[in-house]
Amino acid sequence: MGLYDVSIIATGSKVPDAVLTNADMEAMVDTNDEWIRTRTGIRERHQLGKDETVTDIAIAAAKNAIDAAGIEPTEIDLIIAATFTTDLMFPPLGCMIQRGIGAKNAVAFDTNAVCAGFLYAMIQGAQFLQTGAYKTALIVAAEGITRYIDYTDRNSCILFGDGAGAAILRATPHANELDQPQKGLIDFDLGSDGTRVDVAFCPRPTAPSSWLATLSNRDEVTPYIWQDGRAMFKAAVNGMTDSIKRVLERQHIAAADVNLLVPHQANLRIIEAIGERVGIPSEKTALCLEEYGNTSAAAMPLALDKWWRLGKIHDGDLVVFTAFAGGLIWGSALFRM
Ligand SMILES: CC(C)(COP(=O)(O)OP(=O)(O)OC[C@H]1O[C@@H](n2cnc3c(N)ncnc32)[C@H](O)[C@@H]1OP(=O)(O)O)[C@@H](O)C(=O)NCCC(=O)NCCS
Repeated sequence: MGLYDVSIIATGSKVPDAVLTNADMEAMVDTNDEWIRTRTGIRERHQLGKDETVTDIAIAAAKNAIDAAGIEPTEIDLIIAATFTTDLMFPPLGCMIQRGIGAKNAVAFDTNAVCAGFLYAMIQGAQFLQTGAYKTALIVAAEGITRYIDYTDRNSCILFGDGAGAAILRATPHANELDQPQKGLIDFDLGSDGTRVDVAFCPRPTAPSSWLATLSNRDEVTPYIWQDGRAMFKAAVNGMTDSIKRVLERQHIAAADVNLLVPHQANLRIIEAIGERVGIPSEKTALCLEEYGNTSAAAMPLALDKWWRLGKIHDGDLVVFTAFAGGLIWGSALFRM
């Protein structure tokens, strides 16, 4: 695709220590463990402590990835942080991470594609690396979603948790030998539909309430995450399925040849439906939903890091990433590891 191949060379992660179990949810809203497990696949999620920040877990995940890569922070040329729940409106989380890890040679900024944020930041970073502008990129996704949850709304509060995940991307000169398959990022598909902003959203407390009411078709809008669960479910299954198929078809790759699917972790039933429709079985799917819930942008790198550390990702494996988000936003990427 470019002058340089772009590979993921290491991953990292960090979740807060505090855990919110399904039993904790039962104490807050009219729900139960059985409903949550069978309808979503979630058993527990992690929550930032009172004095803990998104910046803290983002820096910890970044350090974890840097250690795994065996590189110095000064080798990093580019930092992109994906988040919609960072502690400060500015400076960007990327700059806070740069400060926290001492990556003094990097340029840093943020990307907001909500739950698809890590995928979008990774593709964005890869563009700089494929052209040769930069050699090493740190992509970090970190969310403190539990701070934007209405814990009286059982439709959404049971789904979300806090966490951070990171990956190091490295550019290597493109190997042009015909007998060598291309390594790293092979192809991607990104898309959005701004006509459907009302399906899921989270307003700032400063947004005019009359305007929010028009935008959402609801009389009363609170500064918490709100979603039409069923509409989101359907759009997510169709959006991710179609996106994966577009990439695989374009690259003439059969689903059976895919070694691993790393999907956004919102609901196990969504992931299973995509697997069935695309033809990638559950044993080839990276999951961390049961223990972390939906951590928005952090979900994909958390699943990737878990699989990486379990030794389930091998040299030459074909890995498909796919994500879906409020916006609506969707995307997929195909990597050869
Ligand atoms: C939210 C979600 C888990 C709801 O599951 P569902 O199977 O679609 O459930 P429904 O919305 O159809 O509701 C079925 C019933 O369960 C109830 N219910 C909803 N949440 C419940 C809970 N936590 N505990 C018990 N019952 C619950 C509903 O009130 C409804 O009851 P009713 O039939 O009496 O009206 C599911 O739609 C989902 O995961 N959607 C996608 C979410 C997503 O991707 N979000 C990302 C947003 S950025």
